[in-house]
Amino acid sequence: MRIDVLFGVQQLTPQDVQGRVVAVIDVLRASTTIAVALSNGARAIIPMESPDDAVTRSKQLERGAFLLAGERRMLKMDGFDLGNSPIEHSRSAVESKTVLLSTTNGTKALLAAQGARDVVVASYVNLSAVSTMLRSALRGGADITLVCAGQDRQFALEDAACAGRFVHNVSKRLSGLDTNDAAFAASLIDKKFGDNLMRLFNTAAHGRALAAAGFGDDLAACAAVDSYPVIPIYQDRQITLLGPDRER
Ligand code: MLT
Repeated sequence: MRIDVLFGVQQLTPQDVQGRVVAVIDVLRASTTIAVALSNGARAIIPMESPDDAVTRSKQLERGAFLLAGERRMLKMDGFDLGNSPIEHSRSAVESKTVLLSTTNGTKALLAAQGARDVVVASYVNLSAVSTMLRSALRGGADITLVCAGQDRQFALEDAACAGRFVHNVSKRLSGLDTNDAAFAASLIDKKFGDNLMRLFNTAAHGRALAAAGFGDDLAACAAVDSYPVIPIYQDRQITLLGPDRER
């Protein structure tokens, strides 16, 4: 039984993916937005490498059945319907729509994790639901990789802290569990900030950048632990919710 944490997608090797359950963490903001959009009734989220890819892909979908969403430098792209703010992905905006999503780091991390036994989208808003899923996978014999999306190939404090919280939740009272050093370091960062996620986000470079760019309300939304208790699973090039018909 193993849990490994990776602080960046560039560290990902085939061994970290194959046969494993991989949780992709991009707290600010992609993972949070995906959980919120699916909770608000989006039919599916399709991660796209680039905005151009999203536009090309949309041409294969029925008009009115999809939305173009995402960000570059935190801002909505021209001609897109939505940015990457979880607040924008409201029920009135996304219900029954397929969302083609392209972001700087989060969607790239998801695309890199393809091929795993399961890929789950993880953040603070779905912390307990995903922790329960990861814990049962671990007890079922699967090894786990927690991949932090990071920021522009750099270490992201908020993703590492969130990974530390998952290590804590998933490994509670479990004996014989091996972890890598990054998992230990992530746990230390989680303990440093504890439940004061706004202090964490205001310390983190990307959190400060989002606040400076006017997305302060997004920080509060991303800090609302368990506010969207869903399990988004990435499979067959789309993310949908794990439901009774798809138990793991
Ligand atoms: C990302 O995927 O890079 C982030 O979610 C960016 C953001 O939304 O600010």
